[in-house]
Amino acid sequence: MNDADTDGARAAELRAILDHHAYLYYVLDQPEIDDAEYDALYRELQALEAQRPDLRTPDSPTQRVGSAPLEKFAQVRHLEAMLSLANARDEDELLAWDQRNRRYLDGRGFDDVPLSYVVEPKIDGLAVSLTYRDGLFVVGATRGSGEVGEDVTANLRTIGALPLRLRGAHPPAVVEVRGEVYLPLAAFTRLNEARAAAGLPTFVNPRNSAAGSIRQLDPKLAAQRPLALWCYAIGHSEGLDLPDHHSALGWLRAQGFRVNPGIVVVDSIDAVAAACRAWEERRAGLDYDIDGAVVKVDSFALQTALGSVAHDPRWAIAFKFAPTTVITRLHSIEVNVGRTGVLTPFAVLEPVFVGGVTVERATLHNEDDIRRKDIRAGDDVTLQRAGDVIPQILGPVLDGWVDEDGRRAERSARHAALPEWRLPEACPACGSQVVRETDEVAVRCPNRSCPAQLVESIKHFVSKGAMDIDGLGEESVQLLYDRGFVRDVADLYSLREKKDSVVLLEGWSTKKKRVKDGRDVIEIAGTKQTDKVLAAIEESKQRPFAKVLFALGIRHVGAVTAQAIVDAFPSIDGLLAATADELAVVPGVGPVVAEAVTQHLADDHNRETLERLRAAGLRLVEEHPRRAGGALAGTTFVLTGKLASLTRGEAQALIEARGGRVSASVSKATDYVVAGEDPGSKLAKAQRLGVTVLDEDGFLGLLESSRVSGDDDSAPVQLDLA
Ligand code: IVH
Repeated sequence: MNDADTDGARAAELRAILDHHAYLYYVLDQPEIDDAEYDALYRELQALEAQRPDLRTPDSPTQRVGSAPLEKFAQVRHLEAMLSLANARDEDELLAWDQRNRRYLDGRGFDDVPLSYVVEPKIDGLAVSLTYRDGLFVVGATRGSGEVGEDVTANLRTIGALPLRLRGAHPPAVVEVRGEVYLPLAAFTRLNEARAAAGLPTFVNPRNSAAGSIRQLDPKLAAQRPLALWCYAIGHSEGLDLPDHHSALGWLRAQGFRVNPGIVVVDSIDAVAAACRAWEERRAGLDYDIDGAVVKVDSFALQTALGSVAHDPRWAIAFKFAPTTVITRLHSIEVNVGRTGVLTPFAVLEPVFVGGVTVERATLHNEDDIRRKDIRAGDDVTLQRAGDVIPQILGPVLDGWVDEDGRRAERSARHAALPEWRLPEACPACGSQVVRETDEVAVRCPNRSCPAQLVESIKHFVSKGAMDIDGLGEESVQLLYDRGFVRDVADLYSLREKKDSVVLLEGWSTKKKRVKDGRDVIEIAGTKQTDKVLAAIEESKQRPFAKVLFALGIRHVGAVTAQAIVDAFPSIDGLLAATADELAVVPGVGPVVAEAVTQHLADDHNRETLERLRAAGLRLVEEHPRRAGGALAGTTFVLTGKLASLTRGEAQALIEARGGRVSASVSKATDYVVAGEDPGSKLAKAQRLGVTVLDEDGFLGLLESSRVSGDDDSAPVQLDLA
């Protein structure tokens, strides 16, 4: 062999080796060599081709990237039209499709023919057609109109999973391979992060990013986007004779195409439905988006007999899943005032069906978030709702978008003309000037009597998890407030006195009843309903102290934190006397929560409400506190007489903060009686029972030695910052 022959042989060998490893890596996902080894072989081939350009073949791995930027895309006429798919939204529509097909076939010589079906994932990417002539990849095109698409060959060549040459020994003269180009979800996230960091607009969804990438005029840019490819059909072919769709998929796999391994062949429509639902279940765990399953009649003879209507074949149907993201119009941004006065913007949307429900409102979190995403009233926005997750607006659609059949919708001009959104300076409920606290994104209405705050705090008070008052829903609370019956939570407990007028409240004490002729009539339920609610309010007085504390709606105090506070301070008097420092060491509390609690309790109006709740008979003491691990855990004190340095409440707080308990009367179970000046009969009883008596110094000494430390291993963690 001469040198030329050796070079040629080595180049062919390198192409084969590199091809083999690209196939293992991209198609089978089973690499056998690492990147460095691959790169070394690749560079060897590159060097060889640089020396001997005549050895450079169009299917050489070096030819995937590198062609010059295009001016524009050429048009390509598909040899066979690229069809779209009709949809089935549920099992009934799937069944109806199958029955239509059977009826259609019955009249055409295929009476009672047994049917097999192939069920595939419906990849949410961009459809492409790849033409191979004599085994060589020659043209790749987008779907376009279905008849004519754009020539994106150069960009498609950069996709590692796309064979530049078919692997089979006897390639057909011509074959159009159909598939879906997509961007894997992880790559999509990385791409958007990089774009955001560079100040570029981010992509709305993976499909848009795949579409944007495949339509890059510079193939070098497309090469930087790690596009992937699933192939799922054959279009026009010459020199191929295959009986059915599943054989075609097998053939594609053998030629080196990536064919989804989860595709199944089944032989009843029930099994089809089950396979579709199985795909829906797998959906969340995939690293690519699917928006449904595609069902295809397997036999090509039957496909031909069935034919198509307009652009949709009768022999295939898309079983659509509920979308998890959609694009809709944001009509306006409104502001809600919460029970702690925080202003929260929310979106009023053109109603859309997403993730199985119709959504017309979505929270927008806060002003900073809206600015960061640059969401403006009037924008088209991407809305996401997956599973039971609260609907979220991901962002405005800035560059137009690509629909599932690859058609572009341009909307870019609108956004720039819309005004940027700003939070109002005045509370939308009461008109007070809002305040933005330093170190906080939250903006709040400072007016404690702001009607929105009052109504929200009553709603919270009666809600499940708090006082859990049955029959008092959000609407009833609003109604009772609007009519002036309930202005704060304590008013609930004097509602009984106003019963006669409350009974007449339209909407609260009435219920709808459907009569025979189909019209709705309103029947006054009268006292019965009212009695029920009043009984539920009465019953709520039995809620334990921790529930009451949570129900008060103190900032940052969720149910867990309320319980932790009650564990440490089992009585309201102890809690009222506690300082922020003492509270801050309660597990799960910490300085921020402690400050919020002491501030709330120091407020005159809140104190008054508490006293009214106490007078109404609510439980503001926990008789059986869960023993927290304080130094005085399990220790019972009785206080008698007046202490010089502490009030009764302060003494109680100090004891409770250490896990101890204060009881009203002396018994054998009492551990210590603390006797101040002018002690009463309790001292005598203690002496009689032999209970240890502490004077003020002794008591202070005990407190000192059982100090609550804030810096031990069990340092408090901030929990529950609701
Ligand atoms: S078959 C006549 N199979 O869905 C058959 N299409 O609305 C038409 N798609 O444009 C295509 N996954 O982009 C087929 N497994 C799959 C598919 C699939 C995704 C897309 C394709 C097509 C659209 C039809």
